[in-house]
Amino acid sequence: MARNDTFSINGREYPITDHTYDVVVVGAGGSGLRATMGAAESGLKTANITKVFPTRSHTVAAQGGIAASLGNNTPDHWSWHMYDTVKGSDWLGDQDAIEYLVREAPQAVYELEHAGVPFSRNDDGTIYQRPFGGHMQNMGEGPPVQRTCAAADRTGHAMLHALYQQSLKYDADFFIEYFALDLIMKTGANGEKECVGVIAMCLDDGTIHRFRSKAVVLATGGYGRCYFTATSAHTCTGDGGGMVLRAGLPLQDMEFVQFHPTGIYGAGVLITEGARGEGGYLTNSEGERFMERYAPSAKDLASRDVVSRSMALEMREGRGVGPEKDHIYLHLDHIDPTVLGQRLPGITESGKIFAGVDLTREPLPVTPTVHYNMGGIPCNYHGEVMAGDKSDPEKIVPGLFAVGEAACVSVHGANRLGSNSLIDLVVFGRATGHRLKELIKPGTSHDELPADSAELSLSRLDHFRYADGDTPTAALRADMQKTMTRHAAVFRDSKLMAEGVENLAAINARMADIKVHDRSLIWNSDLIETLELDNLMAQANVTMVSAENRKESRGAHAHEDFPDRNDAEWMKHTIAWFDGWGGGAQGSGKGAVEIDYRPVHEYTLTDDVKYIEPKKRVY
Ligand code: FUM
Repeated sequence: MARNDTFSINGREYPITDHTYDVVVVGAGGSGLRATMGAAESGLKTANITKVFPTRSHTVAAQGGIAASLGNNTPDHWSWHMYDTVKGSDWLGDQDAIEYLVREAPQAVYELEHAGVPFSRNDDGTIYQRPFGGHMQNMGEGPPVQRTCAAADRTGHAMLHALYQQSLKYDADFFIEYFALDLIMKTGANGEKECVGVIAMCLDDGTIHRFRSKAVVLATGGYGRCYFTATSAHTCTGDGGGMVLRAGLPLQDMEFVQFHPTGIYGAGVLITEGARGEGGYLTNSEGERFMERYAPSAKDLASRDVVSRSMALEMREGRGVGPEKDHIYLHLDHIDPTVLGQRLPGITESGKIFAGVDLTREPLPVTPTVHYNMGGIPCNYHGEVMAGDKSDPEKIVPGLFAVGEAACVSVHGANRLGSNSLIDLVVFGRATGHRLKELIKPGTSHDELPADSAELSLSRLDHFRYADGDTPTAALRADMQKTMTRHAAVFRDSKLMAEGVENLAAINARMADIKVHDRSLIWNSDLIETLELDNLMAQANVTMVSAENRKESRGAHAHEDFPDRNDAEWMKHTIAWFDGWGGGAQGSGKGAVEIDYRPVHEYTLTDDVKYIEPKKRVY
């Protein structure tokens, strides 16, 4: 590393420390660590930049497990997993990528086992697998399949530790508590964009670091925190999506936001679907197991969007529990406490801490809670980011990759099945590692950086550092979160979403009036939260406009004025650009969202399986 440059703006100087790597991964959750490990194992000089210590990344909160058709507890086959994932996606998932996911899944799980993940075991020593919503035997016919491999209800925690250890073993360099500011993009002679690095700030001393690399992998997670209550960590601020939008690239399918049926009422803390997998069930104020009415076959183990909508309808029709009739009961009190202790120890503890409930004796108050973004950075199943080229939808951006929740491959389409997220992280983290190995020769020289390599990131940093308006970051963030919560909820309608679009545009414009109190660069959480808010704000606007634009109901997008899926007009991915970061104060535009579409891949990867034709989705 060397200090070789200084960026000057408004009479202020920002010295830059330079680093050169083959690969830079941003984010150290499950997908970021798997990509880091893969790249480093291939002999590529690899850095990982992460704003939190790796084992504190949001993957640590993943509870119930990771889906793979091992067939340890019930018969299973990858083609059954594929069918369920396509159906779960409400036919918006790309079937070539889904085939890749489910076929690679068993191997990816065995790799985790060998890397040291302490999976729960069956008596015969094989990995224990539990039922999860929407996962069935016999091409959706049923009964439920036990496909979700679990380490009690702390699967993500176990995975993160094993993957971090493996990445260290292969000598990846970690830049811990560094916040990535922006991508370094270069425009070639033919006018095409290419990614050549990333600029980051060290949180504890405020130093600026410029990473030159042949590939940048964005593994920055979702943007759940644009809602008021979410199971997502406070760090889930969509930093990769924000960087991509500022680079003039689009995001995909942002209207599809998953609500997990069982967030603890009030606290939003996750109670794993594994709870229903182990026999838990939901009741309304009349003590009725209402899921039997909505999903007669799968009942409480229907797909998440179906269960969340059923709960919302029960509450809307006055059958919610509690004085405000605004939640639902989850029962586990009939399950043997020894089983709860062995298989669900984490949620037993969460129930006590966050709801004051002893699960072994009484039901837990739960409500649908924002949990996952199906949308994200469009990419193919090698992790290569799509440019959003109107004449060539498969065209990629050289040097730029995305994995995990930040990415939209798209295997989850309009609705993700539970436990398909952890498997997505490791399968596509691994696939990206393979692609990097094919593309990059270790030790070869790098292209020159563009002359303006630090311009976007450091002028934006300086702009917010000295922002002197009248609106505190926390106040504007709360307005954005409440607007998203009200206008892009489980059920949406035209009027609500049109108002949401207008309100959010006005809230985005107020970014120009933001007030940052702390001007220092030493652990300046006021500044970092403002930069995070800027990332969230862009994605909240894109989500709202994309939702208002889609005139049908599909998966998690339940549009009350268009209650049916409309394959003829809407079986297509939304792609959306945003031109107004910082309320338009520094960016080129004023917060406009531009929408276009990409075709869904209506083909499989191999001839081993046929394209799964769309049909009505019932559970
Ligand atoms: O319910 C859960 O354990 C969450 C799993 C997931 O989102 O995949």
